[in-house]
Amino acid sequence: MVFSLAAINAAPQDGASTGAVAARFDKIYAAPSKLFSAAPNAFLVRAVRDLKPGQALDVAMGQGRNALFLAKAGWDVTGYDVSETGLAAARASAAKEGLRLNALRSSHQEFDFGRERWDLIVMTYTLADMEDAAFLRRVRDSLRPGGFVVVEQMNAGGTGKGPANALFRSFQDLRVVQYEDMVDTAEWGLQKMRIGRLVAQKD
Ligand SMILES: C[S@@+](CC[C@H](N)C(=O)[O-])C[C@H]1O[C@@H](n2cnc3c(N)ncnc32)[C@H](O)[C@@H]1O
Repeated sequence: MVFSLAAINAAPQDGASTGAVAARFDKIYAAPSKLFSAAPNAFLVRAVRDLKPGQALDVAMGQGRNALFLAKAGWDVTGYDVSETGLAAARASAAKEGLRLNALRSSHQEFDFGRERWDLIVMTYTLADMEDAAFLRRVRDSLRPGGFVVVEQMNAGGTGKGPANALFRSFQDLRVVQYEDMVDTAEWGLQKMRIGRLVAQKD
């Protein structure tokens, strides 16, 4: 089965229900796909190189490429996603490799991020609404002092035609320690497009 980049990107901006989004990604994860990278996100790998492992949250973890990498590196990892098929793959990989992984079925809208709970929050290609102030506040509040958020996303669906520096502004209440907005190969879609990357730390 072939899935287009437009199909991946269609959530949630088109108003699709969470159930419809989950069904779309269940199908994507059920079929062998050359649409996305199975390797951990390269920007994340660099960002955490010198960090002491602690409590990590992988937002919209998919099949767990980042969560598994972090668990292997000694982090205590929780992840959530709406796709049961993605979560099942993540749990199976963790079991096969003898890694501990807390993989939960939840959505951006419902997940209880908690307060000052995470040393690291990973958000790669999450399709979360990065202009949703309430969602961003929940993310920020859940970081421990000194904790980091690492983001990689397609800017304006890869067109880059949205407002300038939107991703930077989404996290400007934190200390932004790395930010880039450039044309590069997206790890989802595997095509050149406008990518936003950010590392920010809570004081
Ligand atoms: C493009 S994939 C990225 C997966 C993973 N973060 C990665 O980088 O490989 C987007 C993921 O977001 C999940 N997703 C989409 N909408 C969601 C929502 N409202 N709440 C939670 N997860 C959602 C999908 O099920 C899918 O696994």
